[in-house]
Amino acid sequence: MTTRLRTAQERREEIQRNAKQLGIDDAYVSALVEAFYQRIRADDRINHIFARRVGDNWDPHLEKMKDFWASVALNAGRYSGQPVPKHQALTEARPEHFEIWLALFEETLKETAPTPGAIPYFMERASNIANSLQIAMFGTPGLPGSRW
Ligand code: HEM
Repeated sequence: MTTRLRTAQERREEIQRNAKQLGIDDAYVSALVEAFYQRIRADDRINHIFARRVGDNWDPHLEKMKDFWASVALNAGRYSGQPVPKHQALTEARPEHFEIWLALFEETLKETAPTPGAIPYFMERASNIANSLQIAMFGTPGLPGSRW
C-alpha cells in the first residue's frame, strides 16, 4: 500500500471543510471576536489589563484577534505575532485571570455558536493555548518555581 503525504493546501482545505460543517467561517470568527471583547471590556475583574495595553485602540487589536482565530480555527495563515512575550509582559495577570478569560469565552460561544459542535471546537483550542501561555508565564505546575 502506498501512502501519499497531503500537501499543506489539502490539509487547509480539509480543516476548512470540517469547520464549515460546524458553521465556522470568517463571518462567524469576526462575530465571535467582537462579542467576546465586548464581554472582556465589560468585566471589571479583567478589563483593567486590557485598558492598560489596548487603551482606546481597539480596532487594530480586534483585527489582529480575528486573524489569529481565523488562523487557529480555519488554518487561514493570516496571523503572525508574538503571543508569548506579549503575555509575559502582562505582569499583573494571574492564573485566575485565565479562568475568567476562558469562562467569558465559553459564555460568548454559548450565546453565539452557529452549531453546538462549534463550542468544543473553539474551547479545546483556547484552553490548549491558555495552558501554553500559562506555562510560559508561571512555569510548569508541579515543578519547582511554578507559580500556578
Ligand atoms: C489572563 C488572560 C489573558 C489576558 C489578560 C490577555 C491580555 C492580552 C492583552 C492585554 C493583549 C495585548 C498585548 C499588547 O498588544 O501589548 C493580548 C494580546 C493577545 N492575546 Fe491575550 N490575554 C489573555 C489570554 C489569552 C488567550 C487564552 C489567548 C489565546 C487563546 C490570547 C491570545 C492573544 C493574542 C493572539 C494576542 C496578540 C499578540 C500579538 O500582538 O501578536 N490571550 N492579550
